[in-house]
Amino acid sequence: MSVHQKIKRVTTHVLHEMKLRNEKIAMLTAYDYSIARIIDQAEIDVILVGDSASNVMAGNESTLPITMDEMIYHAKSVVRGVQRALVVVDLPFGSYQGNSKEALTNAVRMMKETGGHAVKLEGGQEIIESVQRILSAGIPVMGHLGLTPQSIHKFGTYVVRAREDEEANKLIEDAHKLQEAGCFAIVLEKIPAKLAERVAKELRIPIIGIGAGIGVDGQVLVIHDMLGITQEFSPRFLRRYHNLSEEIKGSVKSYISDVKTKDFPNEKEQY
Ligand code: KIV
Repeated sequence: MSVHQKIKRVTTHVLHEMKLRNEKIAMLTAYDYSIARIIDQAEIDVILVGDSASNVMAGNESTLPITMDEMIYHAKSVVRGVQRALVVVDLPFGSYQGNSKEALTNAVRMMKETGGHAVKLEGGQEIIESVQRILSAGIPVMGHLGLTPQSIHKFGTYVVRAREDEEANKLIEDAHKLQEAGCFAIVLEKIPAKLAERVAKELRIPIIGIGAGIGVDGQVLVIHDMLGITQEFSPRFLRRYHNLSEEIKGSVKSYISDVKTKDFPNEKEQY
């Protein structure tokens, strides 16, 4: 593309059109400038600055410890690397539950300080007031239902959610409520494929799945997982496109060897 050609941005409106055309939406996480730039150039539709940064960037066991300041740092870095994709930023645990005024304050701060295009919140009916308030300020909201990692201590495990009718019915109701409130899309995480397909068929807004089967409008993965940087995490839904941890180790071993054997730097690599 020449420097004079303007890149067409992916907006929430574009995502709706994709759903209408039955064109699948591809979404990945990113937490820093360099990776965001690469995946944007590869034409990913949506970049999620996920609070999974707490796990894969900071090494925490859950997403709970990450703070507003840390999410803002990651989101700002990502936004600097992106020209085309829609950038969605997770509101961290504790920043929107319970008090919708605080939720709005935090969502406004996230948008102002990062330049992100939308925020993502986990939950249904319990957080609907926060969702409505944030939307009333003109901030696009993506919902997140099913396995919601910020509630991991309530669930107790990372097993598939909504296998039983009661939880499945609540999820369907919650999805409708989020749509009626004005959310532009919903992530469904680790739920039965048939249930996810039903939600995607019933709702007008795009449904993005992670461990939710093929019947939804798009897919999201954590980039560290799909590139094989994370090693122990291997749920059934994860497709690994690379074994980057082994490649990195191999390159580092070669570098160490080159330094120790005085092979690096050679004459051409010095001034
Ligand atoms: O934080 C995250 O990476 C997410 C995805 C798993 C959807 O919320």
